[in-house]
Amino acid sequence: MHYILAMDQGTTSSRAIVFDDDVRIHAIAQQEYRQLYPQPGWVEHDPQNIWQSQLAVAQQALVKAGITARDVTAIGITNQRETTLLWDRHTGEPIGNAIVWQDRRTADFCAQLKSQHGQLFRKRTGLLLDPYFSATKLAWLLDHYEGTRKRAENGELAFGTVDTWLLWNLTRGKMHVTDVTNASRTLLFDIHRNRWDDELLDVFNIPAQVLPQVYASSADYGYTAPDLFGASILIGSVAGDQQAALFGQACHAPGMVKNTYGTGCFMLMQTGEHACESQHGLLTTSAAQLDKQPVFALEGSVFICGAVIQWLRDSLSIIKNSAEIETLATSVPDSGGVYFVPAFTGLGSPHWDPHARGAIFGLTRGTTHAHIARAALEAIGYQSAELLLAMQKDAALPIKELRVDGGAAVNNLLMQHQADLLGVPVVRPRIIETTALGTAYLAGLTAGIWNSIEEIAEHWQTDRIFEPMISRDEAAQSMFNWSRVVRGCNPWGRD
Ligand code: G3P
Repeated sequence: MHYILAMDQGTTSSRAIVFDDDVRIHAIAQQEYRQLYPQPGWVEHDPQNIWQSQLAVAQQALVKAGITARDVTAIGITNQRETTLLWDRHTGEPIGNAIVWQDRRTADFCAQLKSQHGQLFRKRTGLLLDPYFSATKLAWLLDHYEGTRKRAENGELAFGTVDTWLLWNLTRGKMHVTDVTNASRTLLFDIHRNRWDDELLDVFNIPAQVLPQVYASSADYGYTAPDLFGASILIGSVAGDQQAALFGQACHAPGMVKNTYGTGCFMLMQTGEHACESQHGLLTTSAAQLDKQPVFALEGSVFICGAVIQWLRDSLSIIKNSAEIETLATSVPDSGGVYFVPAFTGLGSPHWDPHARGAIFGLTRGTTHAHIARAALEAIGYQSAELLLAMQKDAALPIKELRVDGGAAVNNLLMQHQADLLGVPVVRPRIIETTALGTAYLAGLTAGIWNSIEEIAEHWQTDRIFEPMISRDEAAQSMFNWSRVVRGCNPWGRD
């Protein structure tokens, strides 16, 4: 039997899952780690915390599965994307904290660049000039730590997203590499030519010497240092978590769509060799690649999804654990007219407003915790519905179903609400750990455990299908109400 160790480094937790070649899960280990909020709108992670927590859960997963490193055929890495790190190539010491994808500190810088360069970035990278992506975060690090830009020019520093940082540490500095899916989220990568773009680098004054090499997602990424797990293990894949989930959901044919309900919500449609340019606030991005041939996805990114449930738990203390939200929300028949827009870190697709902030509307003396919990869950559904509606307009392909995964996909109330709003069936697979599964498949392809995507797609199985149960008029009215409250989230009028 072959085992694959999937490392899933997410925004709020590091996870590791051991799969076998029959796609059975043998062990899961998970650790939440510290979120740092040094100023309003800023979000950071300690790079050592990212690495140590990921290493620890990987080691624990092997122990839980009752196997050793010698039993593992390959490791697959998947990760929170865009989060930006810079470190010293000789010592491995990070320059400051990682600036997390949710961080808005470069909003004004992006606004300055937009009119002159917006179109260029859109064409080459498929992205918008928004603080979400890595380039302005990297420029911020180079600007704010003295002498850093000079050291970068001298080749002393290495830039990486989280995948590259993990790979560097797993190989003790032997590999300074990323994959196309992560590179495609930096604003520095030409997704059509599959390479870093000098003209884009110049806009941010970023020296090319800091950049990692770019590989296909399924490739030989070297071996782990022997002391980490007791023996070296082949690293067979790297993929950003959302593209990994698209692969894990077996969305290989153009028009197939998945939505992952994690910290944020990320809906991706496979568009194959066609890079579909959005007219409705979506992104064009690289999908996981098996070789040098570019393949694309259309993406809608919502920044706060599961994070709103965490906020109800940690900041409002109205639930003790995330699972409690469904019971609390179902204790009332509806939200009682309450709408909750969790724009804690601005709004992503399709609005792209870094200055928007969260708001709860429609409070009355009768509003209870249960109404707020229900409104929070419904907000996840509304935000995702906006993405699918935009996709339907952009893609000109009929969307037959939405495949769902991620932690909050277990929530039946949310999934039913989602189907009701969308008017298409919402399909939950047997394995909702699709992010980890996607990178496990990609690593398994490198290691020869599986030989084709067709073989992989045979493992995909349905758990439950949620059919729409309300009229289309009712759904349209709900979406209309939602669009009105979203507009209220930036009363400052800054854009
Ligand atoms: O683009 C950000 C995304 O990759 C984060 O994913 O799963 O940590 O919410 P997640």
